[in-house]
Amino acid sequence: MLGITKRRMVVGISGASGIAYGIKALQLLRNLNVETHLVVSKAGHITRSHETDLSREELEALAHVNHPINDVGAALSSGSFGTMGMIIAPCSMRTLSCIASGMADSLLTRAADVTLKERRRLVLMIRETPLHLVHLRNMQTVTECGAIVFPPVPAFYTRPESLDDIVTHSVVRALDLFGLNAEDIPRWGETIKLGEKKREYA
Ligand SMILES: Cc1cc2nc3c(=O)[nH]c(=O)nc-3n(C[C@H](O)[C@H](O)[C@H](O)COP(=O)(O)O)c2cc1C
Repeated sequence: MLGITKRRMVVGISGASGIAYGIKALQLLRNLNVETHLVVSKAGHITRSHETDLSREELEALAHVNHPINDVGAALSSGSFGTMGMIIAPCSMRTLSCIASGMADSLLTRAADVTLKERRRLVLMIRETPLHLVHLRNMQTVTECGAIVFPPVPAFYTRPESLDDIVTHSVVRALDLFGLNAEDIPRWGETIKLGEKKREYA
């Protein structure tokens, strides 16, 4: 993140289940006045139609700038375009595999490749279960290259009351990794302490 003054983030949405994570990331980043650049894979639009009532236009309206998946000449495909980094939420095993192998064949995977080569923060909210050895090896590879593998696994000590609580908690924790404090969430040792039975956060 050295030398990058613009508060600008790349948000990738690939075709794993859990597009709610990407939507939440766009909403929280907008609240933080972080400029978002969105790129959605073709499969990401399939999960959008399965998992939400949002049209393509409504999803795109959540971002400041939208980039077509095939536009490998877009700003995001160059390291000279400064960003705070990139979050892929959710990240499919296919997209993980492309990143692990350096296969920058779409704007989504190229932008991730650029983020790694520029040594910027890359957070992958991977989603699959169970995992086979290739998935695990790809996670090891991207971790060795500097990415952070962040499966959105719920924390139950927060006593979530809704799906939105669960999604928000994971995305806020993912944005913590960019040094962004997106929203007040229950945090262990702060708003939640050992032995407390009820959550006491706003
Ligand atoms: C409704 C739906 C749910 C899916 N869930 C997952 C998933 O959780 N994880 C995953 O890796 N792939 C999942 N897939 C398969 C991916 O969409 C598929 O592998 C696709 O090629 C990924 O392409 P992309 O990485 O370019 O988005 C799902 C597909 C559909 C249609």
